[in-house]
Amino acid sequence: MFQGLRWRLLLSYLTIMAAILAVFGSGVYIFFSRNLYRQLDKKLLTLAQSAAPSFAEVQNDGSDYLNQVDKVPWRDIFNRDKQSLEWFDAEGNFLASKGFFKLELKPKTGATNLLHNSAEVPVRTYTISVFKDSTVPNEPTLEGYIRASQSIEEIESVQNQLFWVLVLGGVMTLILSGLGGMWLTQKAIEPIEASFFKLKQFTADASHELRGPLTAIKASIEILQNHLERVHPKDHKKINAIATATSHMGQLIEDLLFLARTDQTVAILAREKTEISLNTLLSDLVVLNEPFAQKKQIELQSYLVSEIKVVGDRMQLTRLFSNLLQNALQYTPEGGIVSVYINKHNRTAVVSIRDTGIGISTEQLPHIFDRFWRADKARTRREGGTGLGLAIAQAIAQYHGGKIVVTSKVGVGSCFQVKIPML
Ligand SMILES: Nc1ncnc2c1ncn2[C@@H]1O[C@H](COP(=O)(O)OP(=O)(O)OP(=O)(O)O)[C@@H](O)[C@H]1O
Ligand SMILES: [Mg+2]
Repeated sequence: MFQGLRWRLLLSYLTIMAAILAVFGSGVYIFFSRNLYRQLDKKLLTLAQSAAPSFAEVQNDGSDYLNQVDKVPWRDIFNRDKQSLEWFDAEGNFLASKGFFKLELKPKTGATNLLHNSAEVPVRTYTISVFKDSTVPNEPTLEGYIRASQSIEEIESVQNQLFWVLVLGGVMTLILSGLGGMWLTQKAIEPIEASFFKLKQFTADASHELRGPLTAIKASIEILQNHLERVHPKDHKKINAIATATSHMGQLIEDLLFLARTDQTVAILAREKTEISLNTLLSDLVVLNEPFAQKKQIELQSYLVSEIKVVGDRMQLTRLFSNLLQNALQYTPEGGIVSVYINKHNRTAVVSIRDTGIGISTEQLPHIFDRFWRADKARTRREGGTGLGLAIAQAIAQYHGGKIVVTSKVGVGSCFQVKIPML
């Protein structure tokens, strides 16, 4: 029980940690990538601007001018192996180019990423418009465009490295947090575990101690009931009420003791388990409950054709199915139908107890296995239940390596499915 809680705590802690790391990592990655591009854009803008004053020369002399390496103003900042410069006229027609690649695409001012065949690698381009002074003041005329480009292979490799550093860093942090988290959850659960075991011990001790005096009361009442002539007739009813209450209390104490003991795994494992035919067990139970069903005018059907065997404790399994069957009969109004099926699914025995009763709402479903929980306390108290039936049923199913699955609809009915591994 606590093992599961420990893992759930650890898992939630790691999920939160992973989410924080993912947000942080993405933030760092985006920030650095943007910075890298901003720096590259600045470099390309400077390059394009340095080429702008000689636009007229390029337009007139073309490659003759471009080949005069000593003369061109951008010679100090231009890297011919990685960058390229292209010139276009005002209509966007290609004039000349210098450098590593020629994109020959129409110019578009501003920065863009392009993947072009002639470059074969993704490139970053920065295009500026070049103006010349016109006769009309403050209205320069467009002379053309200059596009400076550079391969972004370097940026991509830095991005790649950054990505893996972040991923590996994140994984390492998660592993370390997982180890720390294990220690933390262990520390957090220790006091809860201790108080839980104390409480269980108390329940077991208290119910055990209560058994003695209760047996004495029971014996006395039985004597009184056997010799009613000694009691004043006016008190007969009271004697019967005391007898009913005593037997109810006895059952409650037995249930509490059972639950407190089943929580101690050792006690249960030490019990002898035998091979049990579920068909026989269930058909006996159906026969036993038939009179009650008839009294309530409920049709009790059973479909127990296939022979299915499990290894378990006969008394406990009887108690499990009896609790479920009694619930089905109890929470089904007159004229309803309660049916018991048995099936096998792979290596699992599936016993379904279906009723056409009052049903359980979706909000109530998660609570029905809680100890002392009852849907409608006022109504059910009259029927003498304690709300321990399903808690006991679940404890027994779990100790047989199985579970109980419930589906229910208010006003339509419920289906309790017990799944127990087979031989
Ligand atoms: N077949 C069912 N149909 C509708 N409600 C159900 C059904 N089975 C259980 N419940 C609801 O779940 C609650 C808990 O069931 P549980 O068997 O644990 O206690 P109980 O029947 O009230 O008392 P007891 O301890 O005598 O069994 C019930 O009070 C009832 O409200
Ligand atoms: Mg019950």
